[in-house]
Amino acid sequence: RSLSTGKRPTASPFAFAFDIDGVLLRESKPIPGAAETLRYLQKNEIPFILLTNGGGKHESERVQELSDKLKVDLSNEQFIQSHTPFRHLAADLLDKNILVTGSDASKVREVAEQYGFKRVIIPADILKTYPNIWPFNPLLDTVYENSGRVLPKGELKIDGVFVYNDPRDWAFDIQLILDLMQTENGLLGTYSQKNGRKDLPNGGWQSDGQPRLFFSNPDLLWATSYHLSRFGQGSFQSAIRGIWKDLTGGRDLKYTIIGKPHAYTYEYAERVLSQHRADTFGKPSDAETSRIQRVYMVGDNPESDIRGANDYRSPEGTAWRSILVKTGVWDPERGSPSCEPTHRADNVNRAVQWALAQEG
Ligand code: G3P
Ligand code: MG
Repeated sequence: RSLSTGKRPTASPFAFAFDIDGVLLRESKPIPGAAETLRYLQKNEIPFILLTNGGGKHESERVQELSDKLKVDLSNEQFIQSHTPFRHLAADLLDKNILVTGSDASKVREVAEQYGFKRVIIPADILKTYPNIWPFNPLLDTVYENSGRVLPKGELKIDGVFVYNDPRDWAFDIQLILDLMQTENGLLGTYSQKNGRKDLPNGGWQSDGQPRLFFSNPDLLWATSYHLSRFGQGSFQSAIRGIWKDLTGGRDLKYTIIGKPHAYTYEYAERVLSQHRADTFGKPSDAETSRIQRVYMVGDNPESDIRGANDYRSPEGTAWRSILVKTGVWDPERGSPSCEPTHRADNVNRAVQWALAQEG
């Protein structure tokens, strides 16, 4: 957005971070009042970012969709998805094979390649190359046939496994991911009983090249167009952990997980928000107002949006306050939220009104 007047307004000392699912949208349907609220903030030059545990498409594609749906002019620079931070890992893994899952068809391969990863494999490639790796697959002749690429036969070493969004075929993805976590050094088709053994050096994980497992979103539940919350990527992780435990008799499973409520994601979001504010409203000269003093995190999930904002300690000293809305995962009729926000509001519009009243 270019500033119409050309003058640099004084950058607001406070800003907003909005969750998407259950706050602005229910899947593709805008929640009443959401679009007007964002437009009001833009008109009054109050900075905000969208901070979602969702994903599965490239940021630019999702931002275009959201701008169209909400009729608000959004920019890539104010948008963070669950897997957005993974793009910074590409440079270190250029010569490595990485398995990526979590989107419709082969979309997740496109996203990973747009991030700069060069050797991207999706589960469809493996099933198309080795059809007997997972029996009874009803999707083999349709989804997998159309989106998979036949891989060169012979040794296949996978160095990293990334879950970008909610897997569409949990059964096969769990089989494949746990196959890889039991390999010798990530070689598909090998089997090791060492991985995760606490009594072995490095916990039994081969230090050179055991595939590292990355999750991007711990949400057990999320708000969709159905009236009851649905299982999210966190439920998929519960299934993975449960099967690994029974499979190995309780050996450790090593993985990295980002996304709300993890501090890594909030620190990433704060940097993005500060940069967006500086780019859009100019960086004030004096030290005090040059940084954002307060961020209001508006979310529907006590365990991700609210817990993350409440627990986050900003290295910049920025105060994060949480506002829990009733239009998503949290259902007031089931009792108090598992994590109490700074403030409870009916919806995103009332949430912003409350925050503005706090700012005077
Ligand atoms: O997969 C999306 C879901 O886990 C939650 O998304 O926007 O409510 O953080 P959001
Ligand atoms: Mg949400």
